[in-house]
Amino acid sequence: MIVALNNKCNLNKEEFTIYQQQLQEIKTDIDLILCPSNIYLDKVNLTNMKLGAQNVSDKECGAYTGEVSASQLKSLDVLYCLVGHSERRLYQQETNEQIKDKVKRLLSCNIIPILCIGETEQERNSHQEKQVIEKDLKEVLQELTPVEQQKIVIAYEPIWSIGTGIIPTTEEISEIIEFIKTKYPHNKVLYGGSANEKNIDELKSIPNLDGYLVGGLSLKPEQLKIFLKKLKN
Ligand code: 13P
Repeated sequence: MIVALNNKCNLNKEEFTIYQQQLQEIKTDIDLILCPSNIYLDKVNLTNMKLGAQNVSDKECGAYTGEVSASQLKSLDVLYCLVGHSERRLYQQETNEQIKDKVKRLLSCNIIPILCIGETEQERNSHQEKQVIEKDLKEVLQELTPVEQQKIVIAYEPIWSIGTGIIPTTEEISEIIEFIKTKYPHNKVLYGGSANEKNIDELKSIPNLDGYLVGGLSLKPEQLKIFLKKLKN
């Protein structure tokens, strides 16, 4: 079971120091992956978490101001990296073409991509969610070898559920997880979108789910501890 913590663009230096002390108190055998802002990647010193990044450049290296390359991440002991998060697709206009290149850069540096996919509210309302998911997965993964493809962790994050407190029903999530697993049976699949300590009892009943990608909850260590405890019970 994996729980990946996406801090997004949060925590100043002082806050991050305190946050890290709180995280260190967590004792669990669940695989925790901390994805802080890039500026803290080299400051993470936790024995109970693996390190993840939130983004990577689609270029190898060179004159790309503000970008961070996969090999730079690797040099900081980053083991996982989010790619294709809906916030980047929306605010940075990231395309599947770029996301595909990012996935390849990461794999060439032995970093596991956590590929985020999910439908908008409008797509859900017009029953297009499976089509959208299938298309995004295909466009990003189709050029990879089967061995490479199987390394990808897929995170199903319905966009309308991110940060809204609204989650799909367990039946709706199960249906999508089954759909993804039918097409990509060897990949780990996570759920993300308003997962928290209150709805985890419900979420953990979903079959075949390999874990969760949490945003807001990642910033609340006390609630996170409850979440992890409930997940295990
Ligand atoms: P929330 O858990 O805050 O809804 O965010 C989910 C997410 O976007 C994780 O990548």
